[in-house]
Amino acid sequence: MTTAAEPLRLAVIGAGSRGMTYARLGARSHGAIVTAIAEPRRRRREAAAAELGVPADRCTADWHDLLARPDLDVDAVVVATPDRQHTEPALAVLARGLPLLLEKPMSPSLEEAEQIVAAAERSGAIVCVAHVLRYLPYTALIKDLLDTGAIGDVVSIEHLEPVGWWHQAHSFVRGNWRREDESNPMLMAKCCHDVDWLSHLVGRPAVRVSSFGSLSHFTSANKPEGAAARCLDCAVEPDCPYSARRIYLTHLDDPAARDWPLSVLTGDVTEAGVTAALREGPYGRCVYDCDNDVVDHQVVTLEYEGGVTASLTMTAFTPMAFRKTRIFGTRGMIEGDGYQVSVFDFLTSRTTTVQVVDPTEAGAELGHLGADGALIRSFLAAVRDRDPSQILTSAAESLHTHAIVWAAERARRLGTVETVALA
Ligand SMILES: NC(=O)c1ccc[n+]([C@@H]2O[C@H](COP(=O)([O-])OP(=O)(O)OC[C@H]3O[C@@H](n4cnc5c(N)ncnc54)[C@H](O)[C@@H]3O)[C@@H](O)[C@H]2O)c1
Repeated sequence: MTTAAEPLRLAVIGAGSRGMTYARLGARSHGAIVTAIAEPRRRRREAAAAELGVPADRCTADWHDLLARPDLDVDAVVVATPDRQHTEPALAVLARGLPLLLEKPMSPSLEEAEQIVAAAERSGAIVCVAHVLRYLPYTALIKDLLDTGAIGDVVSIEHLEPVGWWHQAHSFVRGNWRREDESNPMLMAKCCHDVDWLSHLVGRPAVRVSSFGSLSHFTSANKPEGAAARCLDCAVEPDCPYSARRIYLTHLDDPAARDWPLSVLTGDVTEAGVTAALREGPYGRCVYDCDNDVVDHQVVTLEYEGGVTASLTMTAFTPMAFRKTRIFGTRGMIEGDGYQVSVFDFLTSRTTTVQVVDPTEAGAELGHLGADGALIRSFLAAVRDRDPSQILTSAAESLHTHAIVWAAERARRLGTVETVALA
């Protein structure tokens, strides 16, 4: 273990978009340095090692090889592999007794998530599941208002996850989360955060859920006449809001866009590199001509212990924006959009507004409005102080909120009202 003044030594398993986000933010906070990497893609591994200053002999293609090293010598491990490859490395990290930052979703099934919780309990190691939203100062402010009775007793909540038209096309039609068999149902992939966040605010177990939703738009039936299989060859592309040419090639000069989503397409974020990716790779495909099957809109209604209700809408068909929430209480209403929180008081008919994030500040929206940085700092502090109370998203708590998502998915498929298994 390092001394209090030294940065913690991290191993990153999966040096993709999320793994690198935590690595960079950890380094920026001066709380951690990455000293070992497992990443199967050679170019990505080498680029990550060069950027983070990790010697080649501490980088492996296979995480088994990394975790088997007797000289691994790290203080904590980040597992940021694709959705269906979380459980095995998470169990192996815990078997070594190492603190674990595990990307969400924990696992594709309840059984595997239970194995992770059991392993976490056996090892006693600090485990943080990356439900970033809980770590926002915005969330802390709302939670504090609720806990101090600012709107009386919470009765119901209306919550919107506006996925954004081009984000849907990028991740859930053309990209890595487009198919349930390769990743997860979209509610799990996108909104396990929202379901978890609602549970955090309500502070009571969810007991029953129902849900409706489908893939309504991004199907071959909606392919416009004259559309080609790829946007670069398409005659009707100028009139298509989902044009890959518009989504990607017109943002080459934007550093934030180069980081995401452009770096997902190619390691060569130049006009030539992105054009080649659109010509050959999955992100140049017509959105009406892909092999996607996840929903593009879904609603979930939830009932919590004590009768509190909530509705969650996840929809592709919005501008890009942060989640929007209204919380209805017996003495007032809270309205929030990630940037500001307003409280309307029934007694005085007055609205008080607190600005939490300045939307005009450069980069304000990045990293989930700063939540990614807050999460890694909490994780590092918890590991350094050996204090699990600094983790807001333990494996056991995350298992409960994942169980709500699985119940909602059953309800959507079967047309039932489902009881949540782990109430
Ligand atoms: N917390 C959040 O807000 C948030 C946001 C986006 C994604 N995610 C989750 O984070 C995870 C990673 O997503 P991403 O966007 O970084 O994807 P990504 O594809 O950019 O990164 C995943 C990396 O894992 C590597 N990998 C694959 N198999 C591996 C293995 N066996 N061992 C080691 N590395 C392996 C891939 O080569 C890739 O570089 C996913 O589960 C995703 O759902 C979480």
